Amino acid sequence: MRTQVAIIGAGPAGLMLSHLLHLQGIESVVLETRSQQAVESTIRAGVLEQGTVDLLNQTGLGERMRREGVQHHGIRLAFGGQQHRIDLTELTDRAITVYAQHEVLKDMIAVRQAAQAQLYFEVEQVSLQALDSERPQVHYRHAGEQRQLSCDFVIGCDGFHGISRAAMPGGLRQDYTRTYPFGWFGILVEAPPSSDELIYARHARGFALISTRSAGVQRMYFQCDPAENVDQWSDDRIWNELETRLENHDGWSLKKGRIFQKNVVGMRSFVTEPMRCKRLLLAGDAAHIVPPTGAKGLNLAMADVCLLSQALETFYLRKSWRRLDSYSDDALKRVWRAEHFSWWMTNMLHTHPDGSPFQQRLQLSELQYTVKSRSAMTVLAENYVGSPFQMS
Ligand code: FAD
Ligand code: DHB
Repeated sequence: MRTQVAIIGAGPAGLMLSHLLHLQGIESVVLETRSQQAVESTIRAGVLEQGTVDLLNQTGLGERMRREGVQHHGIRLAFGGQQHRIDLTELTDRAITVYAQHEVLKDMIAVRQAAQAQLYFEVEQVSLQALDSERPQVHYRHAGEQRQLSCDFVIGCDGFHGISRAAMPGGLRQDYTRTYPFGWFGILVEAPPSSDELIYARHARGFALISTRSAGVQRMYFQCDPAENVDQWSDDRIWNELETRLENHDGWSLKKGRIFQKNVVGMRSFVTEPMRCKRLLLAGDAAHIVPPTGAKGLNLAMADVCLLSQALETFYLRKSWRRLDSYSDDALKRVWRAEHFSWWMTNMLHTHPDGSPFQQRLQLSELQYTVKSRSAMTVLAENYVGSPFQMS
C-alpha cells in the first residue's frame, strides 16, 4: 500500500493531523495499536485551551463540544482555608472549555470514518523502515496479515510509550527529563458539581484538584505516591483526604457521591529535541510530556499538528521544504513555554516529600503573591489559557 503521510497513533495528535491533511487534500493512513473502543473510553484530559476549541470549530469538529462542553472564565486557587479567583477572561480576554479528551476523540473518529479515512485500529508489530531514504516504509500486522505501507513522511503521534521517538538517530537526539516524586490519584464521581470553576488546592498534606465532566459527573484528583495502589483507598478514605486538603473557612463544601473510577498517573516533564529527522517527524506526547497541573498536554499536541499540517501543505502544494525545516524550532518554542508553566504550577501547588519548612514558606509566599498581584495573576492566566495557534 502507498500513501503520502503515514501517521502512527490515533490519539488527539494523530487523528487531528489526519483530519487537517484531509481538508488540504493530502492523503494519510493512521495506524493504531489499541481498539477503537479502548481509544474512545480512556479517561484523560478535560481542559481545552481556546486555541484547541477554535481549531475544532474551524475544522467542523466542534458541534457536540459546543453543546456539551462548558466554557469557564476563571479558576480558583485554594490555600490556607480560602479560595482565590483568577479571572481568566478579564485578564486575557480568553477562556477555557471543559470537554473530556475521549469525547473529542469520539467526535474526530466519527468524522474521519464518515470521510472513509484509512484509519486502522488493533494493528500489531509496527516497525519503521528506510527512514533515511526518500520512500520510508511502515511494516505492521493487521487482521492476521503482514502489511507494508510506503510513504513520503512518517509522523510519530504514538504517545510517550510509542516506537517513533526511538527511531530518531540516537546521536542526533537530546532528551531532557524530570520525574516528580509524586503522582495523581484520579476519581470519577456521580455527583453534582462542587464548584462552577476548577479549584487547584495546596495543602500541607498535598495538592488536590476539583474538576468536572457534566452536571452529574465530576472529576477530582489528589497528589499521591506514584506507586499508590488504588485498592488501598476506600471511598471513605478518599473523601476524608479530599475534605482535609480542600479545607475551607468560607462556607464552601465538597459534594460527594458514588465513586465509579479510580486511577493513578505518574508525573514527569520530558522534551526530546529535535522533533524532526529527515522524513520522520514527532508530534504530541511522542516528543514531550508535561505534568498535568497546567492542563497543557492535549493542547500542545493540537498546536504541534497545526504547524505540521501547514508544513506538509507547503511541501505538497508549494514544493518547499521551508516549513518542514523549521517545524522543530517552531514547535519547541511553544513546548518549552508550556514545560516551564507546568513545572511552575506543579512546584507551587504540590508538597515535596523532602521539602524543608523553608521551601514550604516560599511556596506559600509565591501563592499569596500570585493571587494578590495583577501582574502575577496575568502571567498565570496568559499561560493557562494559552496563546492562539498559528493558523494560516
Ligand atoms: P496519546 O493520547 O498518548 O496517543 C497516542 C496513541 O498512539 C495511543 O492511542 C496509543 O495507543 C498509540 N500507539 C502507541 N504506540 C503505538 C504504536 N507502536 N503503533 C501505533 N499506535 C501506537 N492535557 C490537556 O491539554 N489538558 C488536560 O486537562 C489534561 N489533563 C490530563 C490529565 C491526566 C490525568 C493525564 C494522564 C493527562 C492529561 N493531559 C491533559 C494530557 C493529554 O491527555 C495528553 O497530552 C494527550 O493525550 C497527548 O495526545 P497524543 O495524541 O500526543 O498522545
Ligand atoms: C483536568 C485535568 C488537568 O490536568 C487539569 O489541570 C485540570 C482538569 C481534568 O481532567 O478535568
